[in-house]
Amino acid sequence: MCGIIGYVGKNNNAINVIFKGLKKLEYRGYDSAGLAVIANKKFKIIKSVGKLYNLDVILKKNFINANIGIGHTRWATHGKPSKENAHPHTDFTESIVIVHNGIIENYIELKTKFMKKAPKFKSETDTEIIAHLLKKNYKNNLLHTVQKILTMIKGSYALGIMCTEEPDKIVCAKQDASLIIGLGKGENFIASDIPALLPYTRNMIFLENGDIAEITAEKVIIKDIKNNVKIREIKNIQWDTMQSEKNGYKHFMLKEIFEQPHTIEETFRDRIYINEGKIHIKEIKFDEKYVENISNICVVGCGTAYHAGLISKFLFENFAKIPTEVDIASEFRYRGPILNKKKLVIVISQSGETADTLAALRLAKSEGCETIAICNVIDSSISRESTNVIYTQCGPEIGVASTKAFTSQLSIIYMLALDWGYKRKKLTNEELKKYLKELWEIPSKIFQFLKKSKDVRNVAKVFVKKMNKNKILYLGRHINYPIALEGALKLKELSYIHAEGYAAGEMKHGPIALIDKSMFVVAIAMKSSRVYTKMVSNIEEVKARGGIAVIIAERDDREIASKSKYIIYIPQTGEFISPIMTVVSLQLLAYYTSVFLGYDVDQPRNLAKSVTVE
Ligand code: M6R
Repeated sequence: MCGIIGYVGKNNNAINVIFKGLKKLEYRGYDSAGLAVIANKKFKIIKSVGKLYNLDVILKKNFINANIGIGHTRWATHGKPSKENAHPHTDFTESIVIVHNGIIENYIELKTKFMKKAPKFKSETDTEIIAHLLKKNYKNNLLHTVQKILTMIKGSYALGIMCTEEPDKIVCAKQDASLIIGLGKGENFIASDIPALLPYTRNMIFLENGDIAEITAEKVIIKDIKNNVKIREIKNIQWDTMQSEKNGYKHFMLKEIFEQPHTIEETFRDRIYINEGKIHIKEIKFDEKYVENISNICVVGCGTAYHAGLISKFLFENFAKIPTEVDIASEFRYRGPILNKKKLVIVISQSGETADTLAALRLAKSEGCETIAICNVIDSSISRESTNVIYTQCGPEIGVASTKAFTSQLSIIYMLALDWGYKRKKLTNEELKKYLKELWEIPSKIFQFLKKSKDVRNVAKVFVKKMNKNKILYLGRHINYPIALEGALKLKELSYIHAEGYAAGEMKHGPIALIDKSMFVVAIAMKSSRVYTKMVSNIEEVKARGGIAVIIAERDDREIASKSKYIIYIPQTGEFISPIMTVVSLQLLAYYTSVFLGYDVDQPRNLAKSVTVE
């Protein structure tokens, strides 16, 4: 939710650095954007509603030479998307300017307590109050003023602040929202995420909660609220800059779908030893005794990460015989889960910043549970707070719809479940080797499928042409039931078509009433599955009521050809491994449907990549 960026250097190109940074952060929010620079000791503030393109148009006509500035791309929480509500915000005298990612929970209380006689606020945001409080308390030292007002504020924030009295510095602060400092030569940066900094530096400091930093072109000082100096490690980030570029693809999402053979391989690298038939995830320090004694697992995540959790239940229960519960993170802490030292809690999050998943992790830790985080973003809040972290190794995922992160999350879950199954003596070495071989072959199978994806484009064209009621049902059973949910989520978020994922056996208990001759039903029918014949019966039930079946089937399945005109064939895989393959076809189907409908695939309306608010 929202991205912030800041630059201070010796060159007068602050506007370019900030705009390019905002482009890289646009996935975090894109309903409005703005920036502020200091020129001739005064702020120049430029804002616009809508995507960054609109800001670019204004900037092209109003280039300003400046060597310091901050910028923001917004996902609205308080106040509709409008120029007034867009960041940066200033105090009434326009001598302090701020950008903010997060939520100030007590902003109404602060407004009534401290600003009684103040003129009317310029915006409806929870952020503006911070600018006024800073001005009110300012006594020639911005850092000290920030330290003072942060004692009054409750909530989450990554803040970037400038002041005309001290025009050579940016002060920033972090609490429960990501904030990184990029260290350059004669220039320094702040940003919400790594890709915005990669064109300039690989040396980065990941601020911790409670950190307040003063940044000039030559120096970075990090302190806490009590003015104690904090020493933070400088990390050298090895991400490939190309990974955060489109690299010739029309959209990030398409590029990320096509990257999957590589990102899955990277996730397996140095963890699967195919010749020895062994798995070793060095990040997990559990000894054999601990693994033997795991009595229960609880898996928590949101959206796509939750769907990875649903699949994990099949894998932990079938391979390792460990009873597993799966929770939507936003429900977890409110349902009163039974947590104790014997429970292992696994949280899954691409961004590592999802507020509900972070809250679930904190609850689990406070009850003494052992925790594992499966994350993509290095040094994110979740990965830092979890007792164990396994990274998905897929580089930055920029498309708002999660694709490559999901298949890498699944790759990690397969490895954990197989490893623990073997260590708990629930799988023989032969069985382990068989599954490892199936997993190992997945990247090349996905590659083969992606090379010939004409089937998918054809079905997407038919969706767009023939669908007149804007509703689609996705059916799956057993381990592909969560993939039906994921396929429906992808289509919904990208195409604004109401799609619902259902366990196929449940269709008779309600959704069948929806079926008529305009209704498309996407059914995942894997021949290798124990429920294949049952899926085929469900498809017949759809057809008997006039519904149009679109079937995801295995390439060697001859029988299925007679069941529908619309079949997407995928390479054959083992039953338990199939979700990692079936999902790719549904990602691509959602992608093309959205493209043919003319929507913005990478930035669907109302969404943001990381949901850092409850
Ligand atoms: O960063 P996270 O994995 O924690 O994000 C969870 C969800 O917000 C995310 O998967 C969301 O559902 C995506 N838009 C799905 O494509």
